[in-house]
Amino acid sequence: MIFVYILFLLYASVSLQYHVPVANQYGQNLLSARDNEQDSRPNRIAVLEEPTNDIHPDQHDGLRKARLGERCGQGHKKCKAHLCCSPAGYCGMTAAHCKSPDCQIGWGTCDADKVPQGLPTKEIQRPQNGPVPYGEVIVTCKTSYTFAMTFDDGPNEFTRDLLDLLDKYKAKATFFVTGVNSGKGQIDDFSRPWGSLIQRMHYSGHQIASHTWSHQDLTAVSREQRHQQILKNEAALRNILGGFPTYMRPPYSKCDHACLRDVEQLGYHVISFNLDTADYLNDSPEKIQRSKDIVNKALSKPSPAGRPFLAIGHDIHAQTVYNLTEYILRRVNEAGYRAVTVGECLEDPRDNWYRWDYRKKSD
Ligand SMILES: *[C@@H]1O[C@H](CO)[C@@H](O)[C@H](O)[C@H]1NC(C)=O
Ligand SMILES: [Zn+2]
Repeated sequence: MIFVYILFLLYASVSLQYHVPVANQYGQNLLSARDNEQDSRPNRIAVLEEPTNDIHPDQHDGLRKARLGERCGQGHKKCKAHLCCSPAGYCGMTAAHCKSPDCQIGWGTCDADKVPQGLPTKEIQRPQNGPVPYGEVIVTCKTSYTFAMTFDDGPNEFTRDLLDLLDKYKAKATFFVTGVNSGKGQIDDFSRPWGSLIQRMHYSGHQIASHTWSHQDLTAVSREQRHQQILKNEAALRNILGGFPTYMRPPYSKCDHACLRDVEQLGYHVISFNLDTADYLNDSPEKIQRSKDIVNKALSKPSPAGRPFLAIGHDIHAQTVYNLTEYILRRVNEAGYRAVTVGECLEDPRDNWYRWDYRKKSD
C-alpha cells in the first residue's frame, strides 16, 4: 500500500509537467499469461501438432511445440469454457494456445477476449481537434529535418533498455503499444512491468499510440471485434495514463475502407511510415547491417534536403534495441536531423495526442 502511494506521488508529481491527470484510478488487473516471447507475426508462432500429453499447463517456452488437447476450429467444434483454440486447432490453456493474435477467436477463449478493468471508454467524446487529418493514412511527417522513429508491438522485456538509450541521446520516439499480444499479459496488469514502462515513456516525453488490443488484422475480424480491438486498448491505457491516444497504427499496416471509417469515427489518426527499417527481417548480428544500410541511404542524400522521415521499427527485437537504434540516433544527429515524436513532426500540439478520461470509477 505504501509502495503504491509512493508510486502515486511520484507519478502525480511527474504528471504535472505534462498536464496529465492522475493515473491508476482504476486499480489493477490480475491475469496470468507468460512473458513476451516473440513477434506477433503469425509465421513465428509455435505450431501445435499431433496431440500428446507431454505439455505442462504452465509451459511458456513458445518455441517448444505444444501438442495437447481436443481438436477445435474450422471443421471441428468449439473448445470448452475457458480453453483456448490454438492456431493449429487444439484446445488448451497454455500460453501457446491462448496468445493472440494467433489464438482462434470465436472457437474458444483467447487473450484477445480479456477485458481491461474499469469503465469502457466507448462513451467518451471524440472531437477531431488539430491540423492532422483523422481516418486517413498518414505516411510522412511535415517538419523538415525531423526523424520520427516509431516502435511497434511493445512494451516488451527490451523496452526499458531502449528508453535508457533514448534518454542518453535526448531523443524522442513514438511507441505503438499493444494491450495483450504475444502472451505478455495485459499492459494494465501492474504485477508486470508494462504499465510502469508506458508511464515512463510518457513522462520522458515520448508519444504513446495504439497498435490495438491484441494485434488482430483489422480487416479480418468483424466490425464489433474491430471496435473492441481499439476500445479495449483505450481502457487499458486509460488505466495506466488516465487517458488514451488519438494516434494508431493498424497491425500489419492493414486497414481497408471499412476499417478506416471505423477508426475515423473513433477519432484516430492512422499512421503509416515512409521509411521501413525492415528490422524484423534482420534480427541477428549478421543481418542487422542491412537495416542500418537502409537508414544510412535515406539519411545520406534525402531529397529534397531535410525531407522528414517517419520510420518504423519494433522494440521486441534484440538487434533493434541493442544495435540498430543507437546507429540510427547517431546518423540522425550527424545528418542534422532531430529525433522527435510523430505528433511533433506533424506539428500537432501535445494536447491533441490523447483524450483524458475524467469520469469517476463509479459514474
Ligand atoms: C551490431 O551490428 C553489427 C553489424 O552492423 C554486427 O557486426 C555486430 O556484431 C552487432 N553487435 C551485436 C552486439 O550484436
Ligand atoms: Zn505490429
